[in-house]
Amino acid sequence: MSSAQSEQRSRVVTTRSVMNMKRRGEKITVLTAYDFLMARLLDQADIDVILVGDSLGNVVQGHATTLPVTVDDMIYHAKAVRRGVEKALIVVDMPFMSYQTSVDDAIRNCGRVMKEVGVGAVKLEGGAHIAEIVRHLVRIGIPVMGHLGLTPQAINKFGTYEVRAVEEAEAEELLSDARVLAEAGVFSMVLEKIPAALAKRVTESVAVPTIGIGAGPHCDGQVLVVYDMLGVTEEFRPRFVRRYGEIAEEMRVAFRQYISDVKGGDFPRKEESY
Ligand code: KIV
Repeated sequence: MSSAQSEQRSRVVTTRSVMNMKRRGEKITVLTAYDFLMARLLDQADIDVILVGDSLGNVVQGHATTLPVTVDDMIYHAKAVRRGVEKALIVVDMPFMSYQTSVDDAIRNCGRVMKEVGVGAVKLEGGAHIAEIVRHLVRIGIPVMGHLGLTPQAINKFGTYEVRAVEEAEAEELLSDARVLAEAGVFSMVLEKIPAALAKRVTESVAVPTIGIGAGPHCDGQVLVVYDMLGVTEEFRPRFVRRYGEIAEEMRVAFRQYISDVKGGDFPRKEESY
């Protein structure tokens, strides 16, 4: 790391600095977090952006989809994350039906997140049909990250978690959505599970950074769900998740050792007692 880079990392990350990273050609790193300790570890590791994803509906709450997640759930987890972060930009996912219903609802719910938690931005799923909402939010000072491609809140429309925009018509629509979102004022956008060639076209077509997940190497940044990359969600193994740990197995080993130590009378020992 150059001295210029290490100097940068001691500074707080903002939506503006994320946009500047694209201009400089510096890749943007994003991981999810849902609690204080994970957020603190990510921040200490110099992650650029922490996304409090509504994926918490799956990995924390155990739901089959993200649809049941509420604004109150997001605020609860985002507050915990906020307490662990000094430098990273925190982005909070707005849950299903908290912004799609009207501009007023979007302003009220996104405003609650910004005001009650104190984070840097919100993330909304969808293309041209939410552009008006994005425009209003940005105008009143709420930065928005977009999200196109496999948008999990639309799973009942898609009916599958397969790669999106493989067909030409859907690819063209996505490209157009990306341009409309950029024009509406998003400071960045997630591209989820789309062909790498399409993600490259989008990345070259918009001035704001693209953050890929299952969208190939040409995006301006990458995001993964933290439990997936750590190997905690063992059964979820799509090709776009690179495993940086096998933490589920390490946890099982630790739990079994603890159980055996307690049952066998080895824990606690004298030096572990008062
Ligand atoms: O909810 C989430 O964690 C997300 C990321 C996977 C992009 O939207």
